[in-house]
Amino acid sequence: MFMDRIRISGGIPLRGTVRTQGAKNAALPAMASCLLLKGQRMTLSNVPRLQDVETMEELLRSHGVSVVREADRYVFDVPETVSWEASESLVRKMRASSLVLGPLLARCGRVVLPLPGGCSIGSRPIDLHLKGLVQMGAKVEIRNGFVYAQADRLIGRRIYLDFPSVGATENLMMAAVLARGETILENSAREPEIENLAGVLRSMGVEIDTEGTGCVRIRGIGEAGGCDKRVIPDRIEACTYILAGVMTGGEVTVEDVVPEHIDSLLAKLEEAGVSFSVRREPRLAGCEESTVTVYPARRLKPLSIKTMPFPGFPTDLQPQMVAALTLSNGVSLVEESVFQARFLYAAELNRMGADIGIKGDTAVIRGVESLDGAAVRATDLRAGAALILAGLAAKGESCVEQAEHVLRGYESIDSKLNSLGARVVFESVSEK
Ligand code: UD1
Repeated sequence: MFMDRIRISGGIPLRGTVRTQGAKNAALPAMASCLLLKGQRMTLSNVPRLQDVETMEELLRSHGVSVVREADRYVFDVPETVSWEASESLVRKMRASSLVLGPLLARCGRVVLPLPGGCSIGSRPIDLHLKGLVQMGAKVEIRNGFVYAQADRLIGRRIYLDFPSVGATENLMMAAVLARGETILENSAREPEIENLAGVLRSMGVEIDTEGTGCVRIRGIGEAGGCDKRVIPDRIEACTYILAGVMTGGEVTVEDVVPEHIDSLLAKLEEAGVSFSVRREPRLAGCEESTVTVYPARRLKPLSIKTMPFPGFPTDLQPQMVAALTLSNGVSLVEESVFQARFLYAAELNRMGADIGIKGDTAVIRGVESLDGAAVRATDLRAGAALILAGLAAKGESCVEQAEHVLRGYESIDSKLNSLGARVVFESVSEK
């Protein structure tokens, strides 16, 4: 078995410019949506090179889609018939595989999907996805750890989501594309990745109204047409590099950012006393890319943060922000309201000299003057990113083990950090 680790020589202020990758969480549902097509082609550009993207690629192939990748561009040729049984090993490997549920049911009239299990950040059920599909007329059964769903043709309905789940909103949007009549999703997720998917579905010929108000309206069509889209920039990756600049007292510019997507971080950085600038640059093809630069700051002021669905502070940035606040000059409170178990990494940060106590859903972070390098273990993707940030700021050498988690979400993180002057070495080691 291979285990990856990242060795970091900390304490170097990072300086320079990095470019944001395409958003993983926008690319995955966009890729899954190609299953709505019949004998048509979808192309997607600005797709990051990540393990989760490769898992989705493998899953689509296992359904019969021909997939070709050239640099950051994918071409999906979807045959007239595709398989409706999702591979157990691939769904178990990545929860986002459940995004094939909606499009397969809509397109094939049936689907068999292994129930995705829990993961290290919480139980993560898909009950809201299934409830919505049942409201659209699907018969759903769960037997021996598999979901069996069937519907001759789904029917557009008004569906109220009990929680603005990102995955449920995406699955139901895709299912609604081929449903009869109009589907209205109330209390739907408002994450930028939802707008990205709406853009993909629009370019398939579907009428979708998202308004950014937590209500999505989709008018179903008989057949979806081929399409071509660029994936939005990855706001979580961009924010991670911004925090790398902040934590090392450096000056880092991150290119290809949509400032509105990262307002919740910028507002908190301002409150903490960090100076930054945002430069807006209109570019080709109607997309506006901007750059954000953070400047060296004194110790951060402590903050109170609660994670929330967008436009609130993202849960996917919570571990990295906690890592930054370990170096603030007071006591910060960070409450996690989206997932139940997202503080496993705190004990690892404490091994580096941080002072974090967990009380229920809240991390109480007493700022310390400095962190010390240590050997630590990444429990999940964003936890790994937080530990890398801590390692960059710490005195001496750190080693982040189980760094393979980090590769699920950060393309070339070692070379990107090294281009900013960091000393980071990625090692793949064989474990018996
Ligand atoms: C997506 C993101 C993930 C991010 C999360 C929240 C992708 C591929 N992943 O995950 O990185 O952390 O949004 O921003 O885009 N829930 C239920 N029942 C359901 C669905 C969700 O109880 O049917 C709960 C979950 O357990 C969790 C919360 O709702 O506590 C949020 O989940 P959701 O928004 O669905 O996240 P994902 O789509 O899985």
